[in-house]
Amino acid sequence: MTFFLETNIYQFFGRFHAMLVHLPIGFIILAVVFEMLALKKKIDLNRAISYAFLAGALSGVLSIVLGLMLASDGGYNEATLNIHKWTGITMTMIAFLLFFMKRKQKTRLWTQKSYPVLVIILVALLFVAGHNGGNLTHGSDYLLEHAPNPIRALAGMEPIRERVTDLDEALVYEDVIHPIFESKCNVCHNNDKAKGDLLLTDAESILKGGKNGNVIVAGNANESELYRRVTLNPTHKEFMPTEGRTPLTNEETMLVQWWIDEGAHFDKKVVELNLTDRIKAYLRDVGIGLKKTFIENLDLKKVDGKVIEAIQAEGFKIKPVSGNSALLEVTYSSYNKEPITTNKLEMLLKAKTNIVWLDFSGVPLNEDVVPKLGQLENLVALRMSNSNLTDAGIKAFESLKHLEYLNLYGNPISDASLESLQKLKGLQKLYLWKTNVSDEGMKSLKAYLEGATIVSGL
Ligand code: HEC
Repeated sequence: MTFFLETNIYQFFGRFHAMLVHLPIGFIILAVVFEMLALKKKIDLNRAISYAFLAGALSGVLSIVLGLMLASDGGYNEATLNIHKWTGITMTMIAFLLFFMKRKQKTRLWTQKSYPVLVIILVALLFVAGHNGGNLTHGSDYLLEHAPNPIRALAGMEPIRERVTDLDEALVYEDVIHPIFESKCNVCHNNDKAKGDLLLTDAESILKGGKNGNVIVAGNANESELYRRVTLNPTHKEFMPTEGRTPLTNEETMLVQWWIDEGAHFDKKVVELNLTDRIKAYLRDVGIGLKKTFIENLDLKKVDGKVIEAIQAEGFKIKPVSGNSALLEVTYSSYNKEPITTNKLEMLLKAKTNIVWLDFSGVPLNEDVVPKLGQLENLVALRMSNSNLTDAGIKAFESLKHLEYLNLYGNPISDASLESLQKLKGLQKLYLWKTNVSDEGMKSLKAYLEGATIVSGL
């Protein structure tokens, strides 16, 4: 009994809509392909075609039922949802009609003219329903999200603004906070799918708040619903993001808190706000304020698209650090169930000279995998908090001569790692919080790494 009380059975079944809806699509396409085949080769496929329409119609009914359940979740753009719903329903009715017509086609003349028209309408509706369904699931700029600026301009979309990573120039909202919301929140809080009636896409919408009003109290993070939601216990049902999506990192959470506490400004530069060393460190964590001289001087060829795809197929997220750059940023989500094996890593290493940022935070790494990371000769930033690194593993990092940022938070490493860390002369920021490195060890390391900030605890 409690099972039914605690779970929303509607939502449970509703979620299958996105999967099942491909069945009617497939059957309808099959019917149309058969129809063309029959025309061209002059063969009789009437029976097969009629059954394909019937299967399309029946699976269409199931998709509609599941779709209505999913829509009861709420938070979808009403206009888009209506178009999607009614095109879907109309298509299903047409498919039934075509089934009956096809069965009787030989005997009834009147069907001959209306039949092809209905088929064409059905195919057209298929595109409309599919496109709107895609927008409901992914947001309306999904199709052109990665399109070049001229094409975006034609579609009336804002040009993609290249993210500023220079500490002196970066804007606190555009370059720090907005990218966090985009990557972690906006699959559910966008124009087409505003869960909780909340959009986190632009200043105006954020200030407008959600169904329960304001989500941000400028100057007071602790009073802000948005901050409360991301700092709840992840098992709490109000925790954001929901559904086991990748939560904010510790650093991202701190930046959101800082942004709100500093007045939740949308147009100020980072340097116009109160910047402590700790905040500067967090900013580096999201890429703001790294010394870019080394990266800027790197002149590399782009990695072949096929290699990138093969790397993605292994579960890595890999993309240019900005716009059209040949330099790459790689992450592996801690939500991936599969560990990083040596085979996976070998694939990644095919792009090794181009990889400058690597984020394996929260992903436990095996002893046989870590040494290979030493081959990433151009790595500038490495995030490996809570990755189960040992002193033996750290030795492999000695070869990462250009490393400026290294996050080793929460790894069971000790003073035995100091000798290797001392060799990383380019380090500007090193996190050793929650490791077993002793206070004396930290002090001696500071003496070696001039100019670096070592974050060792609260
Ligand atoms: C997988 C979908 C999903 C993601 C991702 C997601 N949310 Fe939500 N959010 C929801 C749903 C569903 C609701 C409405 C139910 C509720 O209030 O808990 C909601 C409600 C909210 C509310 C309350 C709005 C109100 O006025 O009641 C806030 C604030 C919020 N989300 C913030 C965020 C933030 C910040 C992120 C990113 C860190 C995020 N959400 C990511 C699904 C999501």
